[in-house]
Amino acid sequence: MAKVKSKYVCQSCGYETAGYLGKCPECGSWGSFVEESTAPQKNSMPEVPDTFPPMKLDEIEMNSEIRMSTNISEFDRVLGGGEVNKSSGIVQGSLVLLAGDPGIGKSTLLLQTAGELCKNNKKVLYISAEESAGQIKLRAERLGIKTDNLYIYPQTNLELAKKYIEEMKPDLVIVDSIQAIYTSQIQSSAGSVSQIRECCNILMQTAKGQNISIIVIGHVTKEGNIAGPKVLEHMVDTVIQFEGDKYKTYRILRSVKNRFGNTSEVGIFEMSGRGLTEVKNPSELFLKEYNQTQTPGSTIIVTSEGTRPLLVEIQALVGTTPYPAPRRVANGVDTGRVLQILAVLEKRIGLNLSKQDVYVNVIGGMDVDEPAADLGIALAIVTCVRDVVFDSHTAIVGEIGLSGEIRAVNHIEKRITEAQKLGFKRIIIPEANEIQDKIDGIEVVRVKKILEAITRGVKG
Ligand code: TYD
Ligand code: MG
Repeated sequence: MAKVKSKYVCQSCGYETAGYLGKCPECGSWGSFVEESTAPQKNSMPEVPDTFPPMKLDEIEMNSEIRMSTNISEFDRVLGGGEVNKSSGIVQGSLVLLAGDPGIGKSTLLLQTAGELCKNNKKVLYISAEESAGQIKLRAERLGIKTDNLYIYPQTNLELAKKYIEEMKPDLVIVDSIQAIYTSQIQSSAGSVSQIRECCNILMQTAKGQNISIIVIGHVTKEGNIAGPKVLEHMVDTVIQFEGDKYKTYRILRSVKNRFGNTSEVGIFEMSGRGLTEVKNPSELFLKEYNQTQTPGSTIIVTSEGTRPLLVEIQALVGTTPYPAPRRVANGVDTGRVLQILAVLEKRIGLNLSKQDVYVNVIGGMDVDEPAADLGIALAIVTCVRDVVFDSHTAIVGEIGLSGEIRAVNHIEKRITEAQKLGFKRIIIPEANEIQDKIDGIEVVRVKKILEAITRGVKG
């Protein structure tokens, strides 16, 4: 009997079979099988030269990371850097993944970035595997980009693209998108898990080997992320997500992984007829529809995204349930957090919600995932239940503990200043945050308990 010299391995879960399969019986991925040789290697030493023997830590020379500003400060902020004496922007030789829903504006953002870099005499190569050169030209015209330094290369084959990357040595390469490009080294079709992985590998080697920065676009699919950017997250240096509601105009850029910076910063943009514009003052945007003559169940909180304070409106709706088990729905805040706040309200201030549906919504589609929003959520619920209006000139910040105590929050000065800048007369903060009562035109009210915050914020 002839010996089997190769096996097929699912690149998604590691399942092995003797013959090729279209769908993995173990994890259900499509096109994830790759042929691997099972014959033992004759020589176990690698063919690559051994140039770097192990070194002592203090013998290693540090070359500080070189960053290239994109000229779009909201983008730079998310890319990181910018600490004392450091510039922010794309790190030279890094591989960045820009992920987002189709149609959210990824190509637009990167084309604008390319245009800005070219203004600074940087050379950019835009490899478009999805759109024709004509389509990109049309978009560039709409965005007002005119430059000699931007090269468009409509190509789906990565080997050909790589040839030009190595020849031209641009400052930045944009690959649009990882799902549409393919390498000839692998049989499966473009967009399959193994193609995406291998392409990413090749791009990573190119970035590191040639010291060229590369940004790849990856579409996130609603129905499972199998062939999506999820499989790439651990391979690239930085993962940036572009989020937003397609029916609203603003977009949020968020870094979810960054080997060269922190991941808490967000960048905010607005999509207009002439591309994406930066939103320098996001609180204004989120409070645009805020109604000063308020209804019960609405409060303004000061949340903190990275180092930037942001005012957003929280709304709650509480009503008798027609169902056997009441519903708890949270949009923009963690449902578990809302359940915890409800439990505290029931136990500590005797609010009976066992027959009530509770809906909590963050206006503007922002995701608020810090405990400092607790008090604002609690007060929105309480004012809705009691059918009273919370003072519309008072902002709220504070975490709620399980015994109903209000706990301290970070960046308190910045939050207070932001509320004051947006015209709020008063801010309710935790007693534990030690700060004076009056700061440049805003009254600071420090509270220990939820009930105190209610009496201070509700008229009559
Ligand atoms: P696009 O960048 O093509 O999205 P992605 O690459 O993430 O799939 O942008 C898609 C949407 O943006 C499209 O519906 C049109 C809109 N758009 C504008 O509103 N204004 C503009 O100036 C541009 C270029 C696009
Ligand atoms: Mg696109």
